[in-house]
Formats: sequence, structure tokens, C-alpha cells
Amino acid sequence: MFSTWLNCLRIILLLIHLLHYTEAKRHLRWECFDCNIGPQFSDKMKCSVGGTRNSVLNVEINLQEELDAIKTYVKISTRFKSTSPYRKFFDITFDGCRVISDMVQGTMVSNMFNAVVRSSNQPRKCPIKKGLIYYHNISIEEALPMFVPSSYLFIQVDFFSKRQSYLNVTLRGEILDK
Ligand SMILES: *[C@@H]1O[C@H](CO)[C@@H](O)[C@H](O)[C@H]1NC(C)=O
Ligand SMILES: *[C@@H]1O[C@H](CO)[C@@H](O)[C@H](O)[C@H]1NC(C)=O
Repeated sequence: MFSTWLNCLRIILLLIHLLHYTEAKRHLRWECFDCNIGPQFSDKMKCSVGGTRNSVLNVEINLQEELDAIKTYVKISTRFKSTSPYRKFFDITFDGCRVISDMVQGTMVSNMFNAVVRSSNQPRKCPIKKGLIYYHNISIEEALPMFVPSSYLFIQVDFFSKRQSYLNVTLRGEILDK
């Protein structure tokens, strides 16, 4: 089901990219980056916004328990005025273990994934062993799909190992036209 959905999305994205390929790149400014990890999974996790334009994200996790499953739920909400409520733009659930091991290149998910892992020691297969995992200078500006409108963003990412929630991430920011 996931791959049918992805294929469909790939075609839509291709069309959108063809329509927008001359459009200027946009900037992303992060205002808030929060991570909550279950205490049995990590004694220390740091999530911070960095860069001169607040456009990059940094993450460090000292993983204390091996992870053999990474069910991932991502929800992106948007609003066009800082005073309006956020509305769900889209959400997706996927198997994180499959994504890190057999990522199909050239898709929206792979572009995002590559932006996240570029300066990281992200393991490339499950189970994820204990130890320090870091992601430095995550910049998703270039990977940001054109179909996401210039707006205020609220991103929620929840990770589950088997049925258990182990990590919740929330991000708030703004997409700015250059
Ligand atoms: C993540 O959020 C859900 C729902 O708000 C909550 O039930 C769960 O305990 C949270 N998990 C962590 C690791 O904080
Ligand atoms: C992250 O970016 C900053 C500023 O551009 C740079 O000084 C630093 O070396 C970068 N770190 C890594 C790990 O790429």
C-alpha cells in the first residue's frame, strides 16, 4: 500500500516539479524543535536549531536500548497566518527500518532522508545498536517539496518500536519566499 501511494506521489511530484522548476528556492526558518524520548531509551537527547538563519537542525541521542523496529508517523500541518489554527496538510506512516535500508533514490522521501543523514552517523540497517547517534546541520530547504505551500509549518514525528512510543518530535517553523 505504501509503495502504491509512493508511486502515485512520485508522479504527482514530477508534474509539480515540471511546472515549478524555474521557481526560486525557498528558505526555512525554524522557531522551535522539541524532542521527547522515553527515559528507558535514552538518558540524554539534545535537539536544537542552528545556523545563521535558524535553518538547520541538530540532534544527538545516546541510545540505551537496541531498536529493532521503527514505525514512523509524520504529520505536517500548515497555517497561512500566525493567528490562525494549524490544519493538517498531510500525514504518512512508514516503516523506518525499510527506509534506512532500501531507500529508493529520487523520491521525495529519499530527498528528505538524504538531507537528514548527510552529516550523521545514522545506521543503515535495523536493529539500531546502542550508542551515540548524531545528526548535524540537517537542512531540508533544498529537499522541501514544492507542493508544500509557503506558510507556517507544524511538523510532528512520532516513532514507535513494536507498539511502544519511544520518541516524539515537534517542529515549528516558517517557509519564506526568497
Ligand atoms: C508521545 O506522545 C503521545 C501522545 O501525545 C504520548 O502518549 C506518548 O507517551 C509520548 N511519548 C513519549 C516518548 O514522550
Ligand atoms: C555545520 O555548519 C556550521 C556552520 O555552517 C559549520 O561550522 C560546521 O562545521 C558544520 N558541522 C558539520 C558537522 O557539518
